[in-house]
Amino acid sequence: MNARRKRLKIGVLFGGRSAEHEVSVVSAQGVMGAIDTGRFQPVPIGVTRQGTWLTPAQTEQALDRIRSERLKSLDEPLGDGILYRVQALASLRRVDAVFPLIHGTNGEDGTLQGLLELVGVPYVGAGVAASALGMDKALQKTFFRHHNFPVADDVQLLASQWRNDRQGVAAGAEAIIGYPAFVKPANSGSSIGTSKARSREDLEEAIAEAFRYDRKVLVERAIDGREVEVAVLGNDEPEASPVGEITYHAEFYDYHAKYEDNTTQLHVPADIPETASERARELAIAAYKAIDCAGLARVDFFYARDGSLVLNEVNTIPGFTPMSMYPKLWEHAGLSYRDLISRLIELALERHSEKGRGL
Ligand SMILES: Nc1ncnc2c1ncn2[C@@H]1O[C@H](COP(=O)(O)OP(=O)(O)O)[C@@H](O)[C@H]1O
Ligand SMILES: [Mg+2]
Repeated sequence: MNARRKRLKIGVLFGGRSAEHEVSVVSAQGVMGAIDTGRFQPVPIGVTRQGTWLTPAQTEQALDRIRSERLKSLDEPLGDGILYRVQALASLRRVDAVFPLIHGTNGEDGTLQGLLELVGVPYVGAGVAASALGMDKALQKTFFRHHNFPVADDVQLLASQWRNDRQGVAAGAEAIIGYPAFVKPANSGSSIGTSKARSREDLEEAIAEAFRYDRKVLVERAIDGREVEVAVLGNDEPEASPVGEITYHAEFYDYHAKYEDNTTQLHVPADIPETASERARELAIAAYKAIDCAGLARVDFFYARDGSLVLNEVNTIPGFTPMSMYPKLWEHAGLSYRDLISRLIELALERHSEKGRGL
C-alpha cells in the first residue's frame, strides 16, 4: 500500500459576476500558491464575469493568460456556455471539498452554498442560512438589532415604495435618520452603490443610486468612528483573532479606497484600548454564533469616538489574498496563510461529516 496519504482534491471556486471578480482571482491565486500540496491538490474552477462556469482545464488556460498577459479577469470562452457549465458543474463531484472564493451575489449569499449542499460536497465557510444573512444587510441589521447587538439605526426602503412616492420616502427617512446618513443597497459589497448624504438633495440622489443595485435599500445613521475588524475561525467553538484597523484617505471606505488607493493601510493589531479590543472580539464571536456561521467570517465594527463599538457587518467570504485583513489577522496570531487554508479545509470536512449526504 502507498504509505503516502492520498491527497485531497480541493476545488478552488473563484471569479464570478460581482465587482469583486478581480479580488477573487487574486485570492484564488494566493490559495493555490500557498496550499499545502503534501496534503491537498488544488483544482481551479473559475466563473467568468458573464457567469460562465469553466472546467478545471479551461480555468488553467485562463489563469495562464492572466499570468502571461497581466489580465485581471478570467476570459470568457468561445462557444456554448451552457455546455461548459454542465461539464464544470460535474467537476464539483470529482473533488473532495470546495473552497468558495466568489464574493457577492451567487457566491456568498447562500445560493452557491445551496448548490454545494445539493451536490453533497464539503465546502469551506458558512452554510446557506448564515451566508444569506451575511449578504443581505437589511435582514442582517434587523436580526442583530433583535438580538440586542449594537448596530446603527436604519430605515429600510423598497423600490416599489420609492417608485410610488419618492418625496414621501425621502422625507420619512430624513425624519428618522437625519444627516449625515449612509445609503446602501441591501445586497452589495465593496461599497458599490453606497454614498454619504448630507442634505435632502444628496439623500434623494443617494437613494436613487442605491436602487440601481437592489430592490432594498438601507438609510443608516452615520457613525463617527474608526473601522476595526476581527477574523473569526471555527465551527461551533469559533475563535477570534486580534483586532485590526483600516485607515484610508477618503470620506469613507469606498471602492477606490478599498482597491485602488495605495495609501489605504491595514494595521494589525489596532491601536485601541485593551478593553475595546476584548469587547470587539467577544461581540465578533457572539455575532458569528448568532447567525450560525461556520469556517470563517470577518466581523466589521465602528469604534466610535465615545469608545463604544457598533457592529457594521459580517462578511462570510472576506477578501482572502495573502495581503487581505483576514489572513493577516491570523498571521499575527501565529497561524500562517498555509496553515489557515489547511484549517479551513479541515473545518469544512468536520462540518460535512455532521450532516446528511445531499442528493
Ligand atoms: N452607518 C455608517 N456610518 C459610517 N460609515 C459607514 C456606515 N455605513 C457604511 N459606512 C462606510 O461605508 C463603507 C461600506 O459600507 P458597508 O456597510 O461596510 O458595505 P460593504 O459591504 O460595501 O463593505 C464602510 O466601510 C464605511 O466606511
Ligand atoms: Mg464593509
